[in-house]
Amino acid sequence: MTNDTGGSLTFPDGFSWGAATAAFQIEGATAEDGRADSIWDVFCREPGRVLDGDTGDVACDHYHRMPEDVALLADLGLDTYRFSTAWPRIRPDGGAVNPKGLDFYSRLVDELLGKGIKPWLTLYHWDLPQALQEQGGWTNRDTAYRFADYAQTVHEALGDRVPTWTTLNEPWCSSLLSYGQGAHAPGLTDPTAAVAAMHHLLLGHGLAVQVLRDGGVGGEAGSVGITLNLSPVEPADPSSDADREVARRVDGLQNRVFLDPVLRGHYPEDVWSDLTPYGLPDVVQDGDLDTIAGPIDVLGVNYYYTLTMRADDEPHGPTTWIGAETAVDVPEGLPTTEMGWEIEPSGLHAVLVRLLREYPGTPLVITENGAAFVDKVADDGVVHDEDRRSFLEGHLRACHQAIADGVDLRGYLAWSLLDNFEWALGYSKRFGIVHVDYDTQQRTVKDSARWYAQVVRDNGF
Ligand code: FCB
Repeated sequence: MTNDTGGSLTFPDGFSWGAATAAFQIEGATAEDGRADSIWDVFCREPGRVLDGDTGDVACDHYHRMPEDVALLADLGLDTYRFSTAWPRIRPDGGAVNPKGLDFYSRLVDELLGKGIKPWLTLYHWDLPQALQEQGGWTNRDTAYRFADYAQTVHEALGDRVPTWTTLNEPWCSSLLSYGQGAHAPGLTDPTAAVAAMHHLLLGHGLAVQVLRDGGVGGEAGSVGITLNLSPVEPADPSSDADREVARRVDGLQNRVFLDPVLRGHYPEDVWSDLTPYGLPDVVQDGDLDTIAGPIDVLGVNYYYTLTMRADDEPHGPTTWIGAETAVDVPEGLPTTEMGWEIEPSGLHAVLVRLLREYPGTPLVITENGAAFVDKVADDGVVHDEDRRSFLEGHLRACHQAIADGVDLRGYLAWSLLDNFEWALGYSKRFGIVHVDYDTQQRTVKDSARWYAQVVRDNGF
């Protein structure tokens, strides 16, 4: 991996620096201006689903504090802001358009542009309208077409001002984790449903790319892509056939089952046969893979951890590792974040170099990377989060090394601008470079954000 263990580093001219958020995690105002329930609103109300019964009802109250939050981005000198639009604000029951929902994002985009910040819009960060879930959600092929309709609505309203579009955020989470393991909304534990959801999400991606292309996105007129959460996957014991087999299957489910259809136009042969007992051939129709493989301009990479897989004697379930139910991720003994995720910047380097070798030709941007730690506002009014600063530095060194190794990496967006609703873990995990006091909604810029702002000013460190 990286030889960059110290010394100063400069990033390429034009490298983008920013931060990311997602609608449900920050907005609150879940019942305002015509927004209807998403699957996450319903999931939050189900006892035992979300830690401490936390909900998205208020979150960071960003819906009411948007200009203040955009001012924070500007004060930090960030040039790019990745946010998501809430489908249940814009087409609340999946059908008719709600102009008030669009207005909010139109104001956000104008506020960003007014401060010289480039909007980077993600269409789907997991908040499916509940009305569509009631018709099967992503197990229903029709949802992919409803997604394309919604993409068209958003593009018609904002396409003149938004340069970068992401169709889906982390379809691994919104299919395998949500319909297979049941840890995320809608909380199903049905492997066949998870496989159907996965394919229909990919189909929705392809259809939305077509809609955006038809709307003129491309070349000078903006770019479109998808964001995947990718992890290196290694066998715990490389000499064990069983460990190598689960590692192959897990790599298939975590990485290749998404990368290959989008970038190569087919499912990987081994994964296709792994998932045949779970109905993959039954949901793939003629022409789907051509649709899914429509060219993209940028691949968004989210990186949080690497996976080191051991085959256990017993199957575990419910799990995301469909067809590899004995797979367990074993710790490597590294320091961890508050999520329990091991801190391993070399894994980010490995992901980027793998993309260069195996999937060359698509520009890359880190669309999320960051860490949760226990943060406290100290008596001096500051959050001294050296652990997060050092996490960011380590991962930026890995990015820099990847660029030196030939990777076409165009930008880095920290997760997250604000502490926020961390899905099934509620407000217990703080990922922000800006601290949020959930009682007062006061924002406090953490030390890590000050350091990051200096990196942005210097285009390096
Ligand atoms: C990613 C999600 C993001 C956030 C981070 C910590 O999987 O895309 O919303 O929860 O993890």
